This record gives sequence, C-alpha cells and structure tokens, in this order.
Amino acid sequence: MNKNKVYIETYGCQMNLADTEIVLGILQNNGYCATKHSEEADIILVNTCSIRDNAEQRIYGRLGNFKTIKDRKPDLIVGVLGCMAERLRKDLVEKKRIVDVVVGPDEYRRLPELIDVAFNGDKGIGVKLSKTETYDNILPHREDGLQAWLSVMRGCDKFCTFCVVPFTRGRERSRSLDSITDEVKQLSERGFKEVTLLGQNVNSYKDNQNDFADLLAACAQVDRSMRIRFTTSHPQDLSDKLLYTIAEHPNICNYIHLPVQTGSNRILELMNRTYTIEHYLELVEKARKIIPNVSFSTDIISGFPTETFEDHIMTLDVMREVRYDGAYMFNYSPREGTKAFKMADDVSEEVKSKRLQEIINLQQQISFELNQELIGKEETVLIEGFSKKSDKFLSGRTDSNKVVIIPLDERIKTGVYVKAKIDRATSATLFGEFTGFANLLEEHLSLTG
Ligand code: 5AD
Ligand code: SF4
Repeated sequence: MNKNKVYIETYGCQMNLADTEIVLGILQNNGYCATKHSEEADIILVNTCSIRDNAEQRIYGRLGNFKTIKDRKPDLIVGVLGCMAERLRKDLVEKKRIVDVVVGPDEYRRLPELIDVAFNGDKGIGVKLSKTETYDNILPHREDGLQAWLSVMRGCDKFCTFCVVPFTRGRERSRSLDSITDEVKQLSERGFKEVTLLGQNVNSYKDNQNDFADLLAACAQVDRSMRIRFTTSHPQDLSDKLLYTIAEHPNICNYIHLPVQTGSNRILELMNRTYTIEHYLELVEKARKIIPNVSFSTDIISGFPTETFEDHIMTLDVMREVRYDGAYMFNYSPREGTKAFKMADDVSEEVKSKRLQEIINLQQQISFELNQELIGKEETVLIEGFSKKSDKFLSGRTDSNKVVIIPLDERIKTGVYVKAKIDRATSATLFGEFTGFANLLEEHLSLTG
C-alpha cells in the first residue's frame, strides 16, 4: 500500500487525546503510518469536540482549510472523527461535502475499512454507538514521554441537562481492571512517570467486584515511582473509600477535579446535577480531613438558563469557600438534543460574558493567593525538561499539577523527582531552588512502615 500517510489533529478533552492514540494504534496495525505534516498526508483526520458551539465553529474553520488542500490534491481523504461525527454526520457529508469519512467514537475499529470505502469513491460512514466497546485490546500508539493518558471507561449516563456527551459518546462502560494495569505496567517499562486515568465520570467505574478505588490502588501498586492521576469525578458518587485510597498511596496525586458547575441549588437542580451545594461542600471538607494537602479544581458554567445575579453571586461564594487550585470556566452554550436546549437561553451573551469575566478574575486571584502560601515550602517536583522560556531553567510539576521552574543543574535529569523550595510565585507558576532528590517509594514506605 502506498497511500498510507495519516495526519490527525485533535480537539477537545483529554479523552479525545487518548482516542487519537487508539485510532493511530488501529491504523498502524493496518499498515498506515502517522505523519506530523498535513501537506504530505494521504489521509487527514480531525478528532472533534461538540461540547460547546465555539468548539464546533473552530473545527468547521479548520475543515475549510483542509478543503483548500483537497482542491489541489483531489485524492486526499478527509475524515471527521469523534463527537461532531456523531452529532453532525448529515451536515458534514451532505452539506459541507468535503468530508469523505465520518466515524463516531465507538466505530474506530472500522476505520481502515471505511478509509478503503472512501478510496473507492464512496463515503465511509460509521456512527453507531455501542454498549460494550472499550478498545480493551487495542494498544494505543504513544510517543515516548513521561506522561500518558489512559481511558478506563467510556460514555456517560449522568445526563446533565446542558451536556451533549451522553448523546455523542453513548452509555457508560468500563474496561477490565487487568487490561488497564497491564497497560500501566507497559508504560512503566517504557519509562513513563505519570498516568492519568480518564473517564467522563470515573467514579462509576466497575469491573465485576472492583470499583474505581480498587482500580486506582491496583494502578498505584504497579510502580511506586509512577504518579497516578485521574479525571473526572462527579460530586454525587465520590466515595469515602476512594478518598482513603488516595490518602494511602503517595503516588496517587492529592488532586481532585470536582466540577461544581454553579453555586446555586436552584440551577443545580435545573442542570440535573443530583447534588446540593451543601453536599458538595461537606464532601470537600471530608476530603480535606482524610487527605491532608488535597487540592481541587473545577468546571463552572456562566449563564445557564434563568441564572439570576443572585445565582451568580452564589457561584462566586462557592469559589471563595472551596478556594480551587484551578478552574475551567465557560459561557453556557445551548446544545441541540439536550434537555436544556428546550429552555430559553435567556441570559444575554453580554451578561454571560460579564459574569464569566468576574469568575475568571476571582479564580486568578485565588490561584495567586494559594501559590503565595507555598513560598518557603518544599514541593516534590517531577522534572519534565527545559522550561518553555529558557534552557537555563528546568520545568516540572507538583503533585497538585502546578508548574515549578528551577535553575538548570547538571545533576538533574528529565523524569526524576526533586525537592524544590519555592521562593516566588505567580497565579500560574511557582519558582524555586533545588534542595535535593526525592523518592516516592521511600515516602510510601514511611507512610506504611
Ligand atoms: N455549555 C457550556 N459548558 C458546558 N460544559 C458541558 N456542556 C456545556 C455547555 N453546553 C462544560 C461543563 C463540563 C465541562 C467538560 O464542559 O462544565 O463539566
Ligand atoms: Fe456531561 Fe454531566 Fe456526563 Fe460530565 S457528567 S459528561 S457534564 S452529562
């Protein structure tokens, strides 16, 4: 086969980054090879996101660019993967007409066959959702590195009223625990130092008797010098067992991404989030008792239908109360097919954006203050390489995912853990001095011994 060079671009969440690696794994098993240059590709794939309208608009713009390439090179195959494929197959194939292949998140195994269909001049379309597909036996294609994504479950059954994910990614299903720990082992043998377990709602992970806490513990045991992260947790089903598991294992990061979405109970109910702010705050308090130094990050939506100024103030109040390390903050975007789509989108764009800006400003202030509190303290940092700005400095990250910059030191290699004493901080970055090497394994022995 000579038309075998694939270029793939990925948009959206970490799940999509993990899916792209699965797609490349499948394609490589079928004789394709990846290229980093769209100009030399025979096949251009775009792994897409539908979560908000602006994500889709950006991707439509990008598809326009690829159309220009295709005009010059008519044999080129252009394909759309992921959530937009699932949601907009008609529009993409019939209206936009530049797309030859459309494949939703559960049909990637058929991609080689669907690309063949496109090479033969037809449209290759596969958009069925599955109740069982987890790509359990597919080894994702990963470049060497320190950090890997690993999806442990797919889909979502929560049906938050604003969210398109249950429609584009289908029902919840989990991968087997053994296949996940095997993959973690392989990553460890390849020198990876950090694995992030991914799922739309990892707390509903289930494999026979094993829940997500069991999975985390099993992954943490594979290699004590490897950091284990996870995302995303839903506040409704974050169990005590999970909190104790995080506390017991030094290599499970003390960091919980716990989307709150809004500070108003009335809006939470309209969102079908199934918890109250009181429950949420109790959970945060409990986690802080069980896991000393635990940090939180969150997602917040500004301007959900009927949101009043008072509701907005409640969101700011929750942020002040929890003091998140970080937040992903968005304007509400109506998505066709969701329950909220039937409600009037009655907060004007202007008001949404004004409130969003206040939310962003507050978060920045909180991040800045939290980082100032770290000055004088010692942090364990996994060194990732040179700092982005200068090769006279090294960059790494703490357990709570904060970037730390330290001066270059010949003794320090990429992929090692060091202790750094923090002496300066902005809202986004910590600056420190190297004070010695750190060993996650020893921390574990001191905790258990
Ligand atoms: N509008 C704005 N934000 C949304 N999110 C999901 N759907 C929407 C939407 N329709 C946000 C939520 C979720 C994160 C992944 O994206 O905050 O937690
Ligand atoms: Fe969407 Fe809610 Fe599921 Fe998250 S939990 S993917 S916001 S439906």
